[in-house]
Amino acid sequence: MTVEPATGPEPQSVLSPLTTAAIFLVATVDEGGEQSVRDLLADLPGLQRSYGFGAPDGRLSCVAAVGSDAWGRLFGGPRPAELHPFEELAGRRHRAVSTPGDLLFHIRATRQDLCFGLAAEIMDRLRGSVTVADEVQGFKYLDVRDLMGFVDGTENPQGRAAVDAVLVAGEDADFAGGSYVIVQKYLHDLDAWNALPVEAQEKVIGRTKLTNVELDEPASHVSLNTVTDEDGEERQILRDNMPFGSPGRGEFGTYFIGYSRTPEVTEEMLRNMFLGTPDATHDRILDFSTAVTGTLFFAPSADFLDDLPEPPAAAAAERPVPHTRTESPEGTGADGTLGIGDL
Ligand code: HEM
Repeated sequence: MTVEPATGPEPQSVLSPLTTAAIFLVATVDEGGEQSVRDLLADLPGLQRSYGFGAPDGRLSCVAAVGSDAWGRLFGGPRPAELHPFEELAGRRHRAVSTPGDLLFHIRATRQDLCFGLAAEIMDRLRGSVTVADEVQGFKYLDVRDLMGFVDGTENPQGRAAVDAVLVAGEDADFAGGSYVIVQKYLHDLDAWNALPVEAQEKVIGRTKLTNVELDEPASHVSLNTVTDEDGEERQILRDNMPFGSPGRGEFGTYFIGYSRTPEVTEEMLRNMFLGTPDATHDRILDFSTAVTGTLFFAPSADFLDDLPEPPAAAAAERPVPHTRTESPEGTGADGTLGIGDL
């Protein structure tokens, strides 16, 4: 076997193997908080090393991702070609809501204390500059099951297939090595779900519950999320869903996170789930699970964080003055002014 030399920008730890603990931190950037956020993003690899180096078995990693509205506030220059706000989907029965989020920190480790320590350090640096929209501490449950009792993550792409599915390449060369991320926080009605016979649950998911064997069920969650391109090739995303909850408060949930090379793939899956397909009016998993958040981000490469572009004001000041003036209506300049003094 020949080993190809590594080329292209270094990604963040998007492809890191599944871990037993995670924290999902979503925040909006306050007016004036931009510089602190830029400083933190630049320091993030160092912070990860500080917390993770002493515990090599802990496999601590953190992926930082930026939302559409914040991108232009934080960075001058070009933006990722497909970065846009999460599009709300209103199905006949269920709604995929779109909720605020400028920053996502996806912190993973085999130990919750490592995730906690790094999250605390990040927040210490950002307090006063951001407003936290959501924080979820997730865990792996039993043998990698979600709280509905099914093994979750089986059909994730591996190796080269994962790289191809998840990392931007030459199609948007400025952002190669980056990845689009969609997150949704789901709350389950476990009383209703557990009242369903196991056979009916298996039809909803499309896999057997105990043995995790795939079933031929065209309207199942698995079928609705098996999407193909025009050549019949399967289009994949990389998921690292985590159960979370609070038995005391009766809260049971799944935090969905999907990385992809283009958000289009995850969006097609969501349309199938919420708006339906010729085989199903909607994904029946939604009859027992409510999406309470929904946000889209771009996780730039590690090289991008290492060498951040200038902030937008500095980038604008450096931009060359155009030699030619574009035609504008009613005698105004390209910027809509008369070009005379302040007018
Ligand atoms: C498959 C659970 C939401 C995409 C599965 C499987 C389970 C599961 C148990 C079968 C095993 C596996 O291959 O992982 C859940 C739960 C969700 C949820 C509990 C939230 C309530 C989503 C969402 C998407 C998604 C929002 C995409 C937007 C997929 C995909 C597969 C899958 C792509 C693999 C399909 C295949 O076999 O090729 N999910 N899921 N899931 N799910 Fe979900």
